Amino acid sequence: INIYVLPEGGNDTSPLQYGLMFEDINHAGDGGLYAELIRNRAFQGSTVYPANLDGYEPVNGAVLSLKNLSNPLSSSMPSSLNVAKGVQNGIIGFANTGWWGIEVKPHNYAGSFYVKGDYDGDFSVSLQSITTGDVLATARVKARCGVHDWTEHRYNLRPTRQASDTNNTLSITFDTKDLKDESLDFNLISLFPPTWNNRPNGLRIDLVEALSELDAKFLRFPGGSDIEGLLSPYWYKWNETVGPLKDRMSRPSAWGYEESNGIGLIEYMNWCDDLGLEPILAVWDGHYLSGEVINEADLQPYIEDTLNQLEFLMGSVETTYGSWRASLGYPKPWKINYVEIGNEDNLYGGLDTYIAYRFKAYFDAITAKYPDITVMESLTGMPSPQRAASDYHQYTTPDGFVSQFSYFDQFPIDNRTLNGEVATVYPNNPSNSVAWGSPFPLYPWWIGSVAEAVFLIGEERNSPKIIGASYAPTFRNINSWAWSPTLIAFDADSSHTSLSTSWHVIKLLSRNRIAHNLPTTSSEGGIGPIYWVAGQGDKPESYLFKAAVYNSTGDMSVAVTFSGSRAKSATLTVLSSQDPNASNYPGGPEVVQTNVSSVVAKSEGVFQFTLPNLSVAVLTTE
Ligand code: AHR
Repeated sequence: INIYVLPEGGNDTSPLQYGLMFEDINHAGDGGLYAELIRNRAFQGSTVYPANLDGYEPVNGAVLSLKNLSNPLSSSMPSSLNVAKGVQNGIIGFANTGWWGIEVKPHNYAGSFYVKGDYDGDFSVSLQSITTGDVLATARVKARCGVHDWTEHRYNLRPTRQASDTNNTLSITFDTKDLKDESLDFNLISLFPPTWNNRPNGLRIDLVEALSELDAKFLRFPGGSDIEGLLSPYWYKWNETVGPLKDRMSRPSAWGYEESNGIGLIEYMNWCDDLGLEPILAVWDGHYLSGEVINEADLQPYIEDTLNQLEFLMGSVETTYGSWRASLGYPKPWKINYVEIGNEDNLYGGLDTYIAYRFKAYFDAITAKYPDITVMESLTGMPSPQRAASDYHQYTTPDGFVSQFSYFDQFPIDNRTLNGEVATVYPNNPSNSVAWGSPFPLYPWWIGSVAEAVFLIGEERNSPKIIGASYAPTFRNINSWAWSPTLIAFDADSSHTSLSTSWHVIKLLSRNRIAHNLPTTSSEGGIGPIYWVAGQGDKPESYLFKAAVYNSTGDMSVAVTFSGSRAKSATLTVLSSQDPNASNYPGGPEVVQTNVSSVVAKSEGVFQFTLPNLSVAVLTTE
C-alpha cells in the first residue's frame, strides 16, 4: 500500500490524547497505589462492610477483639483493636499480614500507631518473615499512653536486607509486666515505605513508575462507578477525604470492600502535579448505583457541595474553602479545567433524571461561577440543551473495536468527547458481543490490544473532537479483585508488577504525539487491514505515521510519502507478538516484541517498510 501524507490541511490535535483513569476497584487504591502497607489499619466499616479484624493475628496468645469504645480515636474511626492478656504473661501483641504480604527491602519505613491504656513499658515494632522466622527490622518505642486519651506513637524501621519473599508481617508487642490493666487499645496502625516523590501519605513507587512511563496527559478520578456510591448515604463526600488521616471517614466502595480515602482529593492533586496530568474531576451528581436519585427539589445542597469542592481546589486563601486548603499546607490554588458530572448516568436508572434536571442543574451552577471549565456529561448522545463535552465508554471485543474505527468521523468538529474508559474485555465471537456476567480474561491479550490501537488511531484521526482516551480499569491486585482485565496487575511484590500488552500499545501511541493531523490518501482507497493516522510532531519538520495491522493475510508492504518533507531517515518502532492470544501476567514472560529500526528514505520524505499482521507501529522522521 502507498500512503500519501498531504503537506497541508488537517487539524491541531488535543493536547490530552492519552491519559489515566483511576478508581478504587480491585484494591487499586487501598492495597495498591496507596503505599500504606497495613491492611485494615483503622478497622473502619459501614453498614455495607462492617468493621472487622481482617489482616490481624494475635502474638503469643494475646486475645484480639474489636471494640467500639465510648471515647474512640475519632468519629471517623469508631472501632479499635483491643489486645488483652490471654493465659500467657510476658510479651504479647498482634501482627498485621499486610495487603496479602508486605514487601521488605533495605530502605526506610516510617510508621505510627495510636494507643489508649495504662502501660508504661516499651513497645516493640518488628518486620518479621513468616517464611524464615527472621526479624528483619525492629524498633523500640517508649510508651506515652494513658487510660483517658489516645496517644500517637511514631517509629522508623530500616531492614538491612531484602526479605526472601513478601510473606512478612508487622508486629507490635508489649510486656504484660508493665501493663496496669488487662488490655490496651490500638488504632490507626500505619507503615509506609518510601513513596513516589517522597510525598507523605503517598503512592507506591513501582506503580507510579509504570504510569509515568506512559507519558499520560490527564487523570480522570475518582471513578468510575466508585464516585456514584452503592446506595444512600454513601455518595463520594470529597470533604471527608482531606485533612489528617484520623479524621478521614471510610466509605463502602462500589467494588466489595471498605475504602479508607487515604488517597483523598489532595493526594489526587499531588499525583497530577507530580506527573504533569490535567485533572478531569468527576463529581457526585445525585445518583446511586442502587438506582436511588435525589429529587430535583432536594438537589441544591449537593450542587453547593460541588461548588465548595471547586472552591477548595481553586479558591484564594480568602475564601472559606480555599483557606481550609491553605490550612492543610496548600496555599497555592490548583486549576480545574474539566469537571465530569457523575459516571455512566445512562445506567442503573439514572438517565431520565439526568436528562430532565440533574445534568443541567450542575452544568448551570458550575459554568455560572467558572465559565472556563469544560463541563462533561457522563455519557454520549444526550439531547443536551447546552454545549457540553461528553464521555464515551467502550468495553467490547477486538472486532468490536475495529468496527468502530470510524465511529467519531460523524461527530462535528467542535465536538468534545473523552473516551474515559476503553478496554477489550471479551474474545471475538460469532455475535460479536460481550457476554456481560460471564468471566472476562484475566489479562489484556495481544489481538485485543491491537484492536484497541485501531480504535485509538481512529480517535487520533478525529482529534481534537476527542479530548483523549484512557484504558480502564488501570489496576488489579491479583489477590483480591472484582474486574479483569486491567492495564497493570500487581501484588505485594513490586518485582511481580505486570505491564499488560495494552500498556505497551498505549505507551507507544502516547509517547509519539502527533500535534497536527495531516490528511492522507492511499493507493488502495479504503482503510483496513492497515489503519493509520499521520501528521506533524511537536518539533518543526518532524512527521509521524502511526498504524495498526489487524487481520491481514500476510505481511504488509507499506510506503509512506510525507509530501513536502525533506527527511532522509526515520525510526520505525513495531510492536508484535508470536501469539494473538498471549498475555503478560505477573511472573510470566514478556510477550510483546518491540523492534526498533532505522529506515533510510527512498527519496526525501518517502519511506518503505514491512509490517506483520497484528502489529502496531510508529514511524518518526529524524
Ligand atoms: O472500569 C470498570 C467500570 O466500568 C467502571 O467503574 C464503570 O464506569 C464502568 O462500568
